[in-house]
Amino acid sequence: MIEINPNEIVVVKSETSKINTVDFSNLVFGRTFTDHMFVCDFEDGTWQTPKVMPYQAMTIEPSARVFHYGQAVFEGMKAYKDDDGKIFLFRPDQNCDRINKSSARLAMPDFPENYFFKGLETLLKLDSEWIKPGVGNSLYLRPFVIATEPAISASPAATYRFIIICSPAKAYYNEPVRVLFAEKYSRSADGGVGFAKAAGNYAAQFYPTSLAQKRGYQQIIWTDASSHQYLEEAGTMNIFFRINNKLVTAPNNDRILDGVTRKSVIQLAEDMNIECDVKRVSVEEIKTAAKDGSLKEIFGAGTAAVISPVSAFEHSGDVFEIEQIEDSYASLFKEKLLRIQHNLSEDKHGWRYEVK
Ligand code: COI
Repeated sequence: MIEINPNEIVVVKSETSKINTVDFSNLVFGRTFTDHMFVCDFEDGTWQTPKVMPYQAMTIEPSARVFHYGQAVFEGMKAYKDDDGKIFLFRPDQNCDRINKSSARLAMPDFPENYFFKGLETLLKLDSEWIKPGVGNSLYLRPFVIATEPAISASPAATYRFIIICSPAKAYYNEPVRVLFAEKYSRSADGGVGFAKAAGNYAAQFYPTSLAQKRGYQQIIWTDASSHQYLEEAGTMNIFFRINNKLVTAPNNDRILDGVTRKSVIQLAEDMNIECDVKRVSVEEIKTAAKDGSLKEIFGAGTAAVISPVSAFEHSGDVFEIEQIEDSYASLFKEKLLRIQHNLSEDKHGWRYEVK
């Protein structure tokens, strides 16, 4: 870990605020950004003095490697405010750790943890008004790193920019989602970058997802690339199946994102004595369970999506509608998570991080 003094951070405040132009009751996910952003450049083999500055367009040369080779990684996190105005993050250490794992896989430099935390805290204190209290409100945080070196030889860049932007958010999915089980396209393969939050993992899903959307499915549940027989993740969220009263979800491997919400659901299930099997989940067992009535629920888990129920799936032309049950695990886990995140319940695992 490089030793850097986080007190060196430079702060340039915005002279005006856009906040009064924003309708917080009609937010579309990821379209509105706060007044400030965090920026830190990697040059001469080290991270330079970071800056919090007004949110603005950046000038980057067209030859920057990010545009040619997709050397880019990102994170998704949220800040919450309780009714006393205290600001909280949820397991931010996990995001810091994961962005560095993603960066390492894409041959990008490690970002110092103390800069990550100091940057977030400085930014959140300046843009605190943008975090609205109340369950269902949050400020979505998007840390990301891009390769800025103006050079188009196919090799890792020598310069990078680490940025954090913030966007007030409500629900990512407003309704239960209909999903298609992947049979042709793949999200990731063994030895690839599926476990990393690499920008290209998401771009590669857009085309097959748009085909699915034309047929009325909002998301694809990706299957393993070699056989398409095992269910892995949904791309914007990890995925859980409830068979009778037991949960099953795919194990982490180098194709699946190590989701923070996913691991929190697994822990909460253990706390509540809900059996949760982390094992390979075959398409056939889910279809059989849907046919014999033992498949009670499917839901996704992710930072943006929180917990999102699935209302139907299709595989090989077979369509299964999933009746939404009242005492669902999806609503149970969602409520538990949101209460911890908003400082409304005990936090026995120490997941809340107060921004002071
Ligand atoms: C998140 O949940 O934060 C994600 O990164 C998913 C994103 C593609 C909206």
